[in-house]
Amino acid sequence: MIPVQPTCLWRYLSIQKRVNRRKIESRFYLSWEDGLWDIVRSYPITDGSTILVPSFFCLDVIKNIKSHGLVPKYYSLDDNLQPDVKMLQTQIKKENPKILVLFHAVGIQNRCVTKAFIRRLPGNLIIVEDAAHRMIDPKDLKLYRENYFCITSLRKVVPLQGSFVYARKHTLGKLIGPEKTFRYSSGVLLLWLFMQIALILQKYIPLKSISIACGKIAEYFMQKSYDLIGNNILPGYCPSIFARIYGAFDYMHIRNVKENQIRIYNKMIASEMKQDRSHFSIPTFSLLDFGNLRGYPIVLPSSTASKIIAFLRSNGILVKVELEGSPWTRSKTIIYLSLGLHVETRDITTISKIFLLSVKRFEKSPHRL
Ligand SMILES: Cc1ncc(COP(=O)(O)O)c(C=O)c1O
Repeated sequence: MIPVQPTCLWRYLSIQKRVNRRKIESRFYLSWEDGLWDIVRSYPITDGSTILVPSFFCLDVIKNIKSHGLVPKYYSLDDNLQPDVKMLQTQIKKENPKILVLFHAVGIQNRCVTKAFIRRLPGNLIIVEDAAHRMIDPKDLKLYRENYFCITSLRKVVPLQGSFVYARKHTLGKLIGPEKTFRYSSGVLLLWLFMQIALILQKYIPLKSISIACGKIAEYFMQKSYDLIGNNILPGYCPSIFARIYGAFDYMHIRNVKENQIRIYNKMIASEMKQDRSHFSIPTFSLLDFGNLRGYPIVLPSSTASKIIAFLRSNGILVKVELEGSPWTRSKTIIYLSLGLHVETRDITTISKIFLLSVKRFEKSPHRL
């Protein structure tokens, strides 16, 4: 069956030699959060300082932010996961945060990540561009000013553990750097390895029941790794081999594959769903986002989401509710359908058909699923 999380590392490797790679300053950590903790400890940030986060955000990270002495406050996002520019500016003035997190939710370009918006913010405000759901090609990065960081979370978008913190040279120079957290790092890396093995078994074992069981085991390891990362205090290190492998990826190829996959989803699902806008919707994203998305996002009404998800999962598509428990997902549910090099074109067709089938069943009889 088709894994939701990226796997099959060998498909990502490219033997093509790339030239003119722009050298971008970065530091490499074990996870997105590890990067953030290094920023927090390297700047003079007092306990009780405010960090502004979007209303669609990971609850585990929120808990960990609190245990690092910061006070997280939400700013709202619209139905397309975008902040309101004016409202956010007003909230920044009112709350006077030390850190502002600007998230490309699902990988969709955040409308506030622009030169015009960033330049208007106070110079001492630390800005974190959250690219956890995005694959970053360093040559496309725009580091708008000092005290501006872009942080990734590789395992969510490619089959690798690790996280890059990108910033201008002077800003990056302020960071203390990752700690030699041997136990923590080896724990997370082992869980990542077990997860990858389970995902590969899920993909290649032909027996549906065993394949689904492998997918669930992969989810278990993923969750354990989230828990371990979520309880960690010091910024952990990740072996540089992961960063080197990432540097060898052919980003253009990965984007092209995703673009084609999105076109198929759009053709099969989006056009069908237009007739039924009241129940299901797809957040708006542009052609430029196609290659950057972590998954194909579908918003379901919370009242019926659990039935739809149960139906998809019983058919081997192990989608999960994304960022459950955040304010944005209180009244609705969002799932991501698989995208990436581990997914074949025929898989996209299968997923779309099963999804549409679940929608049709729901329309006919909401209680049957
Ligand atoms: C939006 C967002 N940002 C950051 C993170 C933290 O990433 P990591 O698990 O690599 O620390 C998560 C985790 O789920 C997330 O969803």
